Amino acid sequence: MTVTIKKCSREDLQILQTISIETFSDTFKDQNSPENMKAYLDKAFNAKQLEKELSNISSEFYFIFVNEEIAGYLKVNMNDAQSEKMGDESLEIERIYIRNKFQGKGLGKNLFDKAMEIAIKQNKRMIWLGVWEKNAKAIAFYKKLGFVQKGAHSFYMGDEEQTDFIMTKTWPASTPVRIHEQ
Ligand SMILES: CC(C)(COP(=O)(O)OP(=O)(O)OC[C@H]1O[C@@H](n2cnc3c(N)ncnc32)[C@H](O)[C@@H]1OP(=O)(O)O)[C@@H](O)C(=O)NCCC(=O)NCCS
Repeated sequence: MTVTIKKCSREDLQILQTISIETFSDTFKDQNSPENMKAYLDKAFNAKQLEKELSNISSEFYFIFVNEEIAGYLKVNMNDAQSEKMGDESLEIERIYIRNKFQGKGLGKNLFDKAMEIAIKQNKRMIWLGVWEKNAKAIAFYKKLGFVQKGAHSFYMGDEEQTDFIMTKTWPASTPVRIHEQ
């Protein structure tokens, strides 16, 4: 299995939209109403919105490939692009999604390593994220990676207010950068 991680550009908009909708739907459709799912998908993943996010210099998207196939993606935010005011020394993992058939093969960990690499290179001191309190699988994954829960914030799925746990991870100043192929 050949795994590569590549930064997305604006030319990737359409495929990013397809993968974003597929993975979000697969993850949350069983625990949310079709109306709320549709409202969120339309708002978060319409082409105009994704184009805006791809053009933001403080956000970066990465695809992870297995051989030639896209297996998932990562979105990180820095500075003002972060969804909470966490400061310039923090990096937010806003989205980390592995397509169903590729889960459990270490790919989520590879994307997390990529986020760590970006954070360390940019002299950040913390990675943080929001995860739905009912997403037990993702919470277990983050705990395994050393994240700890530090609070909560609200998240709107359509008209339903939900609670996201805020989880953070910090590291010693001397942590070496692990280089991935681009
Ligand atoms: C959560 C997710 C990103 C994890 O990616 P993955 O590729 O399946 O996980 P990995 O194979 O890289 O696992 C990395 C480590 O976490 C552990 N882990 C992964 N899922 C776990 C779970 N449900 N429970 C306990 N540990 C878990 C693995 O055992 C592995 O540990 P190891 O290195 O000691 O073997 C992926 O399952 C996913 O995309 N889920 C749906 C989308 C989602 O919920 N995203 C997060 C939104 S906030």
